[in-house]
Amino acid sequence: MEKHLQNPIFKVLADIAQTHQIEAYVIGGYVRDIFLKRPSKDIDIVVLGNGIDFAELVGKQLKTKVAVFKNFGTAMIKTRDLEIEFVGARKESYRSDSRKPIVENGTIKDDQLRRDFTINALAISLNKDNYAQLVDPFNGINDLEQKLIRTPLDPELTFSDDPLRMMRAIRFATQLEFSIDESAINAIKTQKERISIVSKERITDELNKIILSKTPSIGFKYLFDTGLLHLVFPQMANLYGVDIINGKGHKDNFYHTLQVLDNICEATDDLWLRWAAILHDIAKPATKRFEEGHGWTFHGHEDKGARMVPQIFNQLKLPLNEKMKLVQKLVQLHLRPIVLAQEVVTDSAVRRLLFDAGEDIESLMMLCNADVTTKNEYKVKKYRNNFELVKQKLKDVEERDKVRNWQPPITGTHIMEVFGLGAGKEVGLIKNSIREAILEGEIKNSYEEALQFMLEKAKEFGLQPVKR
Ligand code: CTP
Repeated sequence: MEKHLQNPIFKVLADIAQTHQIEAYVIGGYVRDIFLKRPSKDIDIVVLGNGIDFAELVGKQLKTKVAVFKNFGTAMIKTRDLEIEFVGARKESYRSDSRKPIVENGTIKDDQLRRDFTINALAISLNKDNYAQLVDPFNGINDLEQKLIRTPLDPELTFSDDPLRMMRAIRFATQLEFSIDESAINAIKTQKERISIVSKERITDELNKIILSKTPSIGFKYLFDTGLLHLVFPQMANLYGVDIINGKGHKDNFYHTLQVLDNICEATDDLWLRWAAILHDIAKPATKRFEEGHGWTFHGHEDKGARMVPQIFNQLKLPLNEKMKLVQKLVQLHLRPIVLAQEVVTDSAVRRLLFDAGEDIESLMMLCNADVTTKNEYKVKKYRNNFELVKQKLKDVEERDKVRNWQPPITGTHIMEVFGLGAGKEVGLIKNSIREAILEGEIKNSYEEALQFMLEKAKEFGLQPVKR
């Protein structure tokens, strides 16, 4: 086991423990990650006694500052690239935001028992008589091998101690691709309402970690099946289900969305593109209609979906900044390349798409590619081929017309100067007509052609250039 404690810091800690006759252990995520062969920079140390006092001794020896969090009974030291957190062994639970006083003076086993999962309760001794030995009273190593998320205590107790752990269980299952012990799943089902006492930010932190995993659908299926999703993100749970009228059904938009999300994860690690995948069809339930002779329609779900984005970001305490704007834009435009791919692709339609998507065109194409989830091989092939066509057209049109980050060839100020106008409606009308003419391909995206066009157009508005 000594090979696991390669970092020289562990010898320093062990010497201090020995000198002051204090029992100390490395515990939690760092130990778990040793066995998972995942490098980790956060070390948690638990001592039998006062964690802050021990941290002060370490700080003195290393001549470094100690950050003390009296309310939590913890202290932290940063050395080089490591962050070491110290805490006294507790008989009470490790709650995520407890205001209650902390009960220390537990044994190492008491402390391990009160942690969230057996794989997070593994400890390695820093004490002389059993240095580097694994302390694993709840068979955490076995659970690591079995790829199982299990609680050391009765899961009902573990989750009611700290309801955030229900989200953590699902997050670890998704990140590590482990399954969750059946009794823990059942406990989430019975305890789920308690999630209401956890702050939105902490819940969303866990959601984002699920979304940033390799296969986020694993987590969302757990969230849905336990009923947690209905509480933390009801709009997404609402995507579930199929209605049938006159023998006609539609696809289940929940599972479709999960497939789109997993698909986009193969193409990008970007959290916000992943959010765009989650939200692209979010307004389908609200726009669903059955039209006689036609079947199920979701007209306008892209517009309504885009309008729902700020509200959902606000509700989940996601940032209301340019990232939200990006997600909103992608939801708004997500049907456009598909429509293009199905029809004859005209230059003007491609120019308009480039104009509207601007620098986010590649992200939009990525989302649309991910959105092809049909099992019909023939259709998949057809869509993918058409996408290639659209992509090629996008490239050609962009090279020729440069509308991607389009700046009007004639500015409003220029229009005002030419016609001796003040700011007003006419300036906007002329600007719009120039833009439309360029997008329709009536004129080139150049100053000369735009000027000529403007002078002609102005006549319709009864405007004359002022003489100089
Ligand atoms: N812990 C717990 N209950 C919580 C949060 C944390 O029991 N609600 C314990 C676990 O033993 C965990 C340790 O505190 O391993 C450290 O927590 P944290 O740093 O949040 O998680 P890690 O396990 O280190 O994993 P990650 O860094 O991926 O969040």
